[in-house]
Amino acid sequence: MRLDGKVAVVTGGGSGIGEATCIRLAGDGARVAVLDIDEQAAALTAGLAGDGMAVQADVSDPAAIESALARVEGSFGPVDVWVNNAGIAGDAERVNSRIEQQIADMSAGRPVSTSLDALVEMTDDEWRRMMAVHLDGTFYGTRAAARSMAARGTGSIVNIASICGIEGCPGFPHYSAAKGGILSFTRSVAKELIQQGVRVNAIAPGFIETPMMDASMTETLKAATVMQTPLGRLGRPDEIAATVAFLAGDDASFFVGETVSPNGGVVTT
Ligand code: NAI
Repeated sequence: MRLDGKVAVVTGGGSGIGEATCIRLAGDGARVAVLDIDEQAAALTAGLAGDGMAVQADVSDPAAIESALARVEGSFGPVDVWVNNAGIAGDAERVNSRIEQQIADMSAGRPVSTSLDALVEMTDDEWRRMMAVHLDGTFYGTRAAARSMAARGTGSIVNIASICGIEGCPGFPHYSAAKGGILSFTRSVAKELIQQGVRVNAIAPGFIETPMMDASMTETLKAATVMQTPLGRLGRPDEIAATVAFLAGDDASFFVGETVSPNGGVVTT
């Protein structure tokens, strides 16, 4: 499905899944605004996405999101597609060695002797920042896009969640809670906005090889993840980008409030 002439905004477009999404949507004919907290990364992706536009903004700042949308619409015209993708993994280092120890115990048939302690050691600031970027950021982005789209009776919003928001990932209660919240938020606003012609859907990717994964998983954990994946490999950013392109376009005209989960068979519904 082509997106010729459509205007798309991708938050967190400077890296990984966001970068692949910008390139894919541009390849499908859209004019793409790359929104990222990292100005240089946004500019690099904009260069890869045809006549893309780089916009520096922190998704956890509602005023920054409003003014980013105004800048995009001032240059490109009304927004048709908004992808809430920006995200952070949090401090994975603290729990990784403990998860590895647990895997070693289980592999050797021993009782698990190391507790994760991710929850009890989590600070208020860690919890708040995770909620601010993922959940607040998705709210601010969706609200800004919906104000523009609903007035015109058309548009598609795609929210990037995670299988952690379905299953709950041990060691990452804040990330899992934020992603689960994004899924519920998507269902709620989708039922509201479809009455004004705006479709909202979510993607819950499995484990995808991106800079975020490299920063948050050791090689041992990646190998263990591959072993638990029926397909036998990690996902690629372009596989998630293809799902975004599908949900953004008219081929997905009957998808409303849905969660699509490309994950190699780790989680099936
Ligand atoms: P990444 O780290 O490669 O890219 C994330 C981008 O978001 C970066 O360019 C970063 O600068 C930007 N960003 C971070 N905080 C921001 C903020 N406050 N405002 C604006 N931009 C901000 O990460 P990746 O892996 O591409 O993740 C993209 C999304 O996919 C995230 O929401 C992540 O939680 C989700 N996801 C990733 C999975 C994976 O295995 N890589 C699995 C499931 C979901």
